[in-house]
Amino acid sequence: MSETVENVRATAAAEALSEPLTIPVAAYLSEEYARAERDKLWRKVWQQVGRVEEIPAVGDFLTYEILDDSLLIVRTAPDRIRAYYNVCSHRGRRLVDTPSGARDARGRGRRFVCGFHGWQYDLEGHCTHVPERADWQGCLTDERTGLKQVQVDTWGGWIFINMDPECEPLRDYLEPAATLLAPFQLERFRYRWRRWLVFDCNWKVALEAFNETYHVPYTHPEFIPFGSFLGWSRVQGRHSNIGFEAPKGLEENQGKLRIGGGVDARVSTAEMQNFIWENANTNTTETLVEVANRLVTELPEGTPPDQVAKYWLETARREDAERGVIWPTVAPEAVAESGTAWQIFPNFQIGHGQNNMLCYSARPYGYDPDKCVFEVAVYQLYPPGEEPETEWVHTPQDDPDWRTVLPQDFSNMAAVQQGMKTRGFSGPKPNPYRERATVNLHHNLAKYMGTGEPRKLT
Ligand code: FES
Ligand SMILES: [Fe+2]
Repeated sequence: MSETVENVRATAAAEALSEPLTIPVAAYLSEEYARAERDKLWRKVWQQVGRVEEIPAVGDFLTYEILDDSLLIVRTAPDRIRAYYNVCSHRGRRLVDTPSGARDARGRGRRFVCGFHGWQYDLEGHCTHVPERADWQGCLTDERTGLKQVQVDTWGGWIFINMDPECEPLRDYLEPAATLLAPFQLERFRYRWRRWLVFDCNWKVALEAFNETYHVPYTHPEFIPFGSFLGWSRVQGRHSNIGFEAPKGLEENQGKLRIGGGVDARVSTAEMQNFIWENANTNTTETLVEVANRLVTELPEGTPPDQVAKYWLETARREDAERGVIWPTVAPEAVAESGTAWQIFPNFQIGHGQNNMLCYSARPYGYDPDKCVFEVAVYQLYPPGEEPETEWVHTPQDDPDWRTVLPQDFSNMAAVQQGMKTRGFSGPKPNPYRERATVNLHHNLAKYMGTGEPRKLT
């Protein structure tokens, strides 16, 4: 192991939650815990519900469901988004129905009409029509009939909601992620594809399959020839981040756009890029793959890895710029410090890069602790006007459209959920250096839930 990596590990060991800890399994398995999450967690935290560009015009709306709460997120003005509880104030019928089998409801309109007795609401949430209103003898005040608002704000191009009227502002909640990710200009990214499915595991098990690098050589052995994909994991307040280890002089390689290891970085970078493009369709772009494939002809044999990295990224950046795709300029230290992915408490992971991004979300599927809704979205920068039209595609676990890499991760989910239930299991023991994001998730969950604090492994 290089001296740099040893130094990083030594520093990391002095940081918060760096001692060996174990997590009580109730957070994953207990029905009581799963029920308590509704009031103690989901009704208190900021949750990512979609992208700003998904509701571009006034009257565009989408819904978001989390346990018993359905929310209606509406663009009410060119520069304003509002969120309401999706319920009619008359007798409580859900106002906008989610089509059966769909992830959410989407549409555009100037008013919402309840299908039961025809009460109507405008975009501002006022109840504008009640059939036979006079029968209520003046008691149907705006206060009693209007749609109830929930907090909504945007950051990085995402819409976030919070059902707690007393919640702290979104920007404060997101720190230090918001500041450290700012140079990446995530609001400029657009979906390339997005898929969702239901897993037979708790939402935490699903997220914890992606918030660490410790599994890579074993779950994804095909990556071994391309170099080491092991990395660090850091506590960042209520959030965490992860990044790759990188030798001195190649600190930028802690980020997403990294070159391959091995004797010839030109060759291994191209092989790695082709493998990822074909088998994951994540974490890279066509431009990066094309330029990687030319490294062997455009650079002399023996070009040092740092020079290969520089040439590859500068060429891809220039060629993208020529077609109107302008990468943000991020200082190498900022790339290194921000790593490859942020775990935004409690259930959103942003795998950022300078021209592409891979994000995961997970949330409960009803009160069954053994099930969750999982979402995967790949984003990139596009020439203006050439952004693809995408929608959430329900894609079961065995669908070949997932290709080969993600199903390797998926194969661990239900197996972990089931394995944790056996009497012979003494509790998860995350790697204190590489899997600290998991420990930090439970450390912060415990603050909301009042139970489940990670304990010393002694
Ligand atoms: S429940 Fe909506 S109009 Fe009656
Ligand atoms: Fe993985």
